[in-house]
Amino acid sequence: MSIKVEVKWGVHRPEEKFFTMPLVPGMMAKGLFISDLPRVLIVGESENFTFTAAFAALRRSINNIVTTTLEDLEPDWSEAVTAAIRWAKKNKRRGGSLNDTTSFSISEVRARYDNAFETPPAVGPTFISEVDARELHENPLASIRDHCGNIFFQCPYRVDANGDTAKLIVDFMSSAALVQNEGDKLYIGITTEGRYAHAYNLRELIQDTAPEENYEFEGADNTSIQKILDFGYKHTSRTGDIHFTILSHHVTLIFTKQASDSDSTTTSDSDSTTTSDSDSTTTSDSDSTTSTTSTTSTATVDDLIKKVESMTTNDGQPSATRNESN
Ligand SMILES: C[S@@+](CC[C@H](N)C(=O)[O-])C[C@H]1O[C@@H](n2cnc3c(N)ncnc32)[C@H](O)[C@@H]1O
Repeated sequence: MSIKVEVKWGVHRPEEKFFTMPLVPGMMAKGLFISDLPRVLIVGESENFTFTAAFAALRRSINNIVTTTLEDLEPDWSEAVTAAIRWAKKNKRRGGSLNDTTSFSISEVRARYDNAFETPPAVGPTFISEVDARELHENPLASIRDHCGNIFFQCPYRVDANGDTAKLIVDFMSSAALVQNEGDKLYIGITTEGRYAHAYNLRELIQDTAPEENYEFEGADNTSIQKILDFGYKHTSRTGDIHFTILSHHVTLIFTKQASDSDSTTTSDSDSTTTSDSDSTTTSDSDSTTSTTSTTSTATVDDLIKKVESMTTNDGQPSATRNESN
């Protein structure tokens, strides 16, 4: 299973225009939405906090989540939960094509919000403002360091005098590499719609930066974001609303930190349970700019795809699975 993403805009040579990645459907959910609540650091959250709210509600708990913004913001969890439940309904009405077989009813969504948050939801996950994802290694806060076992950047985006989105992601990965240990995970949620996906420089990120920074690319999870959307995540953008694009053109890139001489001494709680899972079936993506395919452009990526295929069972589910808390 693989996904072909348009990574060069305005280029017609297929070998440059498209990049093929292995698919790892459900891998993010199996790593994070499990009952032992692995610690996670969310960077780059925006003012509506619906990503974090949905994340907590899915896990039925605000525990073990540290969420951060680059800007000087302060979450109002009551507003965030209200907005998320409103967006849960809208996302459900609009639908998507992210191939997740799980469908949460609105009453289940509400019940999980009630489990996770107080009524009214005055308290939320630990929040820290003004955290630069490119400078995690310089951040002295213990609560940040303690949650680096899983670091999540949902829809990184930056275009200004200080750099672009591709550079932001490279700098983020370089910084994360200094605070993560062997086995820790880096999650980067991106849209696969070609008009935006070319901004990530995915080929260079996966083929050059990741190995340089000692990360193994596991693949692209094309289903787990659906669960977060079911719980009312509403993407925020300063340059036009692409929320409904994300409903059907999205993957979560997953990288695992490899051992290195300079491993930090930070403790992390990479989860250890391995049980069964039931809802991560994946089918193909039918978009014009993004499609599943078995072709690939380099031997390295070909090897990765083969590796992922060898890890999957006949019904398309990774064989190493964990219990989801749903
Ligand atoms: C397209 S918005 C996505 C916001 C939110 N994650 C979401 O999915 O709705 C891009 C986000 O990247 C954040 N960002 C840009 N540069 C950053 C940096 N150096 N460190 C942390 N966040 C950054 C912005 O503050 C903004 O919230």
